[in-house]
Amino acid sequence: MTDSTPLFSPSLISPAVLADLPEGYTCRPLQATDYALGHLDVLRVLTTVGEVSEAAWAERYAWMKNRNDEYFLLVVLDESGGRIVGTGALVVERKFIHNLGLVGHIEDIAVAKDQQGKKLGLRIIQALDHIAEQVGCYKSILDCSDANEGFYVKCGFKRAGLEMAHYY
Ligand code: ACO
Repeated sequence: MTDSTPLFSPSLISPAVLADLPEGYTCRPLQATDYALGHLDVLRVLTTVGEVSEAAWAERYAWMKNRNDEYFLLVVLDESGGRIVGTGALVVERKFIHNLGLVGHIEDIAVAKDQQGKKLGLRIIQALDHIAEQVGCYKSILDCSDANEGFYVKCGFKRAGLEMAHYY
């Protein structure tokens, strides 16, 4: 039987965010049954996902679940449709600097095309921010395109530094 326990404790999902979602929508940690609810489909609005089988997805999920003080992936569901309409991730990095500080990395934010503009993206960021604060991060950072800067400014972020990349 598939383990349907969540990736991390649902108590980390902000009650304020849950209250502010549009009626009929909910937000919860990723769980093992989410391949079937379209987790990868929603990520396709962000970038190339590739052909990932359910077994391969489950293997990656199990890997993350073994590190569930580090990987916090959540989903927004349209309860009436029973499908995933948004997702986002917080990866918590443990440092030596800043007194063994913790830094949150916000990654892979996506809202289904037909659901954009309903503040679901904003709620996802607020939910990830809440988790970061609860687990003790002193800041969260992310990379985005110029086209998305306005969205993140509305979410309370400000431009800081410059992204560089080396592809392999
Ligand atoms: N530029 C400027 N403002 C924006 C943008 C934008 N690109 N997108 C949304 N906003 C504004 C909205 O108008 C709204 O403003 P308001 O409060 O004045 O009404 C506010 O930001 C909140 O918008 P939401 O409705 O929450 O945005 P949405 O649910 O559509 O999600 C998102 C935004 C996640 C960028 C969505 O459009 C999406 O999935 N895009 C494709 C994938 C993508 O680019 N993801 C981000 C990659 S970066 C990363 O993952 C770290």
